Amino acid sequence: MYLIIFFVFFAASYSIPLSSAAESVTIYEDFVRCFKNKTTISDDSLSDVVLSRTSVSFTPVLRAYIRNARFNTSTTPKPSIIILPRVDPHVQAAVICAKTLNLQLKIRSGGHDYDGLSYVSAVTFIVLDLSNYRNISVDIKDGGGGSAWVQTGATLGELYYRIWEKSEIHAFPAGICPTVGVGGHVSGGGYGHLIRKFGLTIDHVVDATIVDVNGQIHDRKSMGEDLFWALRGGGGGSFGVVLAFKVKLVTVPKTVTVFRIDKSTDQNALDIVHKWQFVAPRTDPGLFMRVLLASPTKNKTSTVNAKLRALYLGRADDVVSKMTEEFPELGLKKEDCQEMTWIQSLLWWMNHVDVDKVKPEVLLERKPDSAKFLKRKSDYVEKEITKPELNRLFQKLATLDRTGLVLNPYGGNLNATAVNETAFPHRHKLYKIQHSTTWSDAGPEAERLYIGNLRTAYRIMTPFVSKNPRSSYFNYRDIDIGVNDHGTDSYRKGEIYGRKYFGENFDRLVRVKTAVDPENFFRNEQSIPTLPTTRR
Ligand SMILES: Cc1cc2nc3c(=O)[nH]c(=O)nc-3n(C[C@H](O)[C@H](O)[C@H](O)COP(=O)(O)OP(=O)(O)OC[C@H]3O[C@@H](n4cnc5c(N)ncnc54)[C@H](O)[C@@H]3O)c2cc1C
Ligand SMILES: *[C@@H]1O[C@H](CO)[C@@H](O)[C@H](O)[C@H]1NC(C)=O
Ligand SMILES: *[C@@H]1O[C@H](CO)[C@@H](O)[C@H](O)[C@H]1NC(C)=O
Ligand SMILES: *[C@@H]1O[C@H](CO)[C@@H](O)[C@H](O)[C@H]1NC(C)=O
Ligand SMILES: *[C@@H]1O[C@H](CO)[C@@H](O)[C@H](O)[C@H]1NC(C)=O
Ligand SMILES: *[C@@H]1O[C@H](CO)[C@@H](O)[C@H](O)[C@H]1NC(C)=O
Ligand SMILES: *[C@@H]1O[C@H](CO)[C@@H](O)[C@H](O)[C@H]1NC(C)=O
Repeated sequence: MYLIIFFVFFAASYSIPLSSAAESVTIYEDFVRCFKNKTTISDDSLSDVVLSRTSVSFTPVLRAYIRNARFNTSTTPKPSIIILPRVDPHVQAAVICAKTLNLQLKIRSGGHDYDGLSYVSAVTFIVLDLSNYRNISVDIKDGGGGSAWVQTGATLGELYYRIWEKSEIHAFPAGICPTVGVGGHVSGGGYGHLIRKFGLTIDHVVDATIVDVNGQIHDRKSMGEDLFWALRGGGGGSFGVVLAFKVKLVTVPKTVTVFRIDKSTDQNALDIVHKWQFVAPRTDPGLFMRVLLASPTKNKTSTVNAKLRALYLGRADDVVSKMTEEFPELGLKKEDCQEMTWIQSLLWWMNHVDVDKVKPEVLLERKPDSAKFLKRKSDYVEKEITKPELNRLFQKLATLDRTGLVLNPYGGNLNATAVNETAFPHRHKLYKIQHSTTWSDAGPEAERLYIGNLRTAYRIMTPFVSKNPRSSYFNYRDIDIGVNDHGTDSYRKGEIYGRKYFGENFDRLVRVKTAVDPENFFRNEQSIPTLPTTRR
């Protein structure tokens, strides 16, 4: 039902643009008047910081961090203005002016939100784009293990690169795709191939700076532990504009090992995936083995292909002997393995095969204005799926064109942090599924077909995944699970997606939200609602 409401909003804004050209001119003029009053900005710089729709930079800046081509069409709702802050007072003024003028503010760091919530809205809105907030300072000695302050508009690739410049054995546990932005990723939880060894990204966040609803800047001390708790997994967009995070680094061996093994039906993919469920979440925390299941695109068969991708924090000999003992069905041989440095393993996960020929500088590439069409959903598995059930699933999945399931093992040290210590609740699951579809042809037919297939896959997975509620990973944004227009029913609507993303942590998130932003200024289609006034 919420899905339908959301689409009606979008459809409405497609046919009758809510933010008309005339309206956006008024918004620009009002905003600039306020912004100039609140800052010392010169007229020269103003045109680089506040962009009207008629600015030549408007479209390139907007498109630079669109990461889903579904939201790059002529009918996609556009912001009335874009603010590109260069210094903190710009961010503070943006918040104060948006609030004074009663404008919906969308905050964008890397733009990787799968449903585009950082730069699309059904109502008239403006975008605060943090892509100039990309400073990173790494201190390899701090606190003994090293730390870094990283601004939210930096990318994960930039953070990895800056750490590597100082030390080859220091690393940071976060996402695998280097263009992902720090702002959304870190505040939403964050995980990558170090999750079983070191836990989530938020388990390594020790400080943050944020602009609150009154335009005041806080660090951990002045914001208080409640808000600092919420910023670790509850998503930034509900609470303020996060300017930077301070993170603790981790150390990795000088040599790590990666391997990939691809299986089709006739090579017992079924047996392997079945057994994987028992091994991958329980084995050595230094081993992360991801499985990708997809219907074969080249040669149609009645089942899916399974592709295993793994990182081991150690030498090839060790992981081979471990797997020979724990997972003989895999048939892992030393020839399947490649030993390399940590930074090279990041390049390998980016699909560079010959990592000796690639420079780590590719981690700095932002690839502006490039995207495919995509949709993602997520699920959590708590109990191994039986072989006959898996077999039936494989056969159904094989009929769904362009639908893939990515299985990410949990376990290891992920549960070393208590479920209520950060806002991220899913620490005791066996593995996470990302439902994934990606395509290149524009137009509504392809979109209907592939998103339809993805929803079918999600439906057939129902019996095998978490229930009451069916859990989702907040950073795999999925508006299908509920949206909020923040009308009279805002709390009730927020509770629907909120409990799926945050489980038992939802109630504390609502209390924090109500305390720091009682009028619900920082909101989007899936933000944390405030408590109804009758319950405050
Ligand atoms: C190609 C790709 C690969 C991915 N791989 C992984 C992965 O390996 N592991 C993983 O955990 N996730 C992964 N993700 C998901 C990713 O972590 C989330 O999409 C994340 O929220 C993106 O952060 P962003 O800053 O790029 O996004 P944005 O779209 O800029 O922001 C996402 C949300 O956070 C809010 N927000 C952003 N910045 C701020 C800020 N400074 N202050 C307050 N609120 C803010 C936005 O308003 C929005 O609601 C991937 C996504 C993509 C597209
Ligand atoms: C600037 O803002 C102050 C309040 O902060 C207000 O009193 C003043 O009138 C404003 N000036 C202009 C030129 O808008
Ligand atoms: C980044 O660092 C430089 C050099 O210290 C500084 O001039 C600039 O203002 C910083 N940028 C932001 C957005 O903080
Ligand atoms: C496609 O599948 C058929 C039947 O399994 C097989 O004979 C053929 O070699 C396969 N072709 C390719 C290109 O893999
Ligand atoms: C958006 O569409 C334009 C064509 O209209 C294309 O040139 C550009 O690469 C696209 N960008 C993204 C992010 O999809
Ligand atoms: C964490 O999970 C492991 C099994 O993966 C279990 O042995 C251990 O007791 C758990 N620890 C906590 C604190 O729940
Ligand atoms: C987390 O839960 C435990 C009990 O399970 C409780 O003792 C502790 O105070 C809680 N911590 C927080 C931060 O709420």
